[in-house]
Amino acid sequence: MKTEFHRSASRALTSLFLCIATCAQAGANAAPLLPRFPDFGQLPPPDAYHSRIFKLSQDYPGAKPEDEQAVQNILQIDYTKDWKKYMEAVRAYIYEGNIKGDGVANDFYLEDNNVRRWYHVPWQHYGLYGREGIHGLTKEGPVFPHVLSPSQPNQWQTYAVGFYNPQGGYMIGRVWKDAENPTTTVMQSEGFPIGTVVAKLLFTTAPVAEVPYLTNPIEWLAYTTEQFNPPTSKRVMSTVRFIQMDIMVRDPRAKDTGGWVFGTFVYNGALANPNVWLNTVPVGIMWGNDPFVTSYSDSNPTPTKTIINPDLKHTIINTSTDLPPMHLGWGLRLNGPVDNTLSSCQSCHATAQFPQITPILATMASNADGKNLTPKDPEWMRWFRNVPCATPFDEQATSMDYSLQLAASVQNFLAAKAAATGGLYNVQYWNGAPVKQIYGQRGTQAEKQ
Ligand code: HEC
Repeated sequence: MKTEFHRSASRALTSLFLCIATCAQAGANAAPLLPRFPDFGQLPPPDAYHSRIFKLSQDYPGAKPEDEQAVQNILQIDYTKDWKKYMEAVRAYIYEGNIKGDGVANDFYLEDNNVRRWYHVPWQHYGLYGREGIHGLTKEGPVFPHVLSPSQPNQWQTYAVGFYNPQGGYMIGRVWKDAENPTTTVMQSEGFPIGTVVAKLLFTTAPVAEVPYLTNPIEWLAYTTEQFNPPTSKRVMSTVRFIQMDIMVRDPRAKDTGGWVFGTFVYNGALANPNVWLNTVPVGIMWGNDPFVTSYSDSNPTPTKTIINPDLKHTIINTSTDLPPMHLGWGLRLNGPVDNTLSSCQSCHATAQFPQITPILATMASNADGKNLTPKDPEWMRWFRNVPCATPFDEQATSMDYSLQLAASVQNFLAAKAAATGGLYNVQYWNGAPVKQIYGQRGTQAEKQ
């Protein structure tokens, strides 16, 4: 009897232990409640909004993904000749699976894409410019009067969301393998793989009445600040309108001029396409910064027509009539409608590094007399070099390979860590001064040259 009891008791105990072991195992395998990175930083109160909420795509691939045929096809198109075909192929790749066709409110929720995964960069939620929680838009910059169109008397703002294809997502995951300690050297040693495609959708609070080409608008609800200037942290529910789409492609053929191809589209609702996302006209493409074009010719800050600079060899600007009058970048290099007229896509992005010891814009750096740089200063042309990919802008820094979001992610992480610990980190300083924060530096300033 006693033995019987012992046997069954020990059997019961064994099964109890087995159960504890398997249950613990099941617990370990179950998905954790929280993702590694917060999704957003700003969300309207429930009485103002209770609909779909943004989710950060952060399931970064653990191994380098296979090359996709769609990307191979893009890399076959000669962008120096068939530049529009190249841009359209990239646009089709970005739109595939991200556009639902049932209105626009549910478009670009990346978790809905059944064709391929796209990935967001973490740590864009932090601070006053941080991601809002409806579409994941970050606060970008002001739009000064007359920059978008002669009929625009008021100042407005821009908001944007960027995302990377699997090749790009793989590298985001490498930098952020340890969520508590990013690896800031991995971009410089490896760089983004060939075939990385990055997209960014930009929205403005400017109304159609001031910017005629926004007719038939693509409108999203967003939780934005009330205005850009005077600065405020107060957020309100706003309607924002799609105005620009930026693309970046890591293309081996651009090797000698930086390794990346940049392109931008502007929204032109007058095209009245049934698929509104196709109302985007390619403005141009650039695959080098034309360092030899040093004249500071008109950058057309308040556009009445699109001016083209024939001296530029690595920038093609659209000459077709479907392009609304556009301002461009410095020396008429490529820049989008909401971008700063004294820079270019490549100029700003070449500064992506850690620590960010040089500001993204030349106008924010100082000359020997402590004055802000102008095109007359010799240092100005540092921003118009062909910095090779995975190479820092300043020798002493580490490259973030043209990704300003990755550079900003590390900055924001450090700022949050410093706030949480009540301490500060030496790497947040350079030459005894705090390094410039990337968010808050963008803008369309139609400054006098
Ligand atoms: C005034 C500086 C500036 C200019 C000019 C500029 N960008 Fe950017 N861009 C940024 C900053 C800052 C970010 C990162 C923050 C964000 O998401 O806006 C960014 C983000 C992006 C992203 C998302 C990827 C990333 O993490 O860097 C793409 C793609 C992009 N820009 C393309 C372009 C293209 C194409 C042009 C030219 C048409 C352009 N940019 C012009 C500053 C600039």
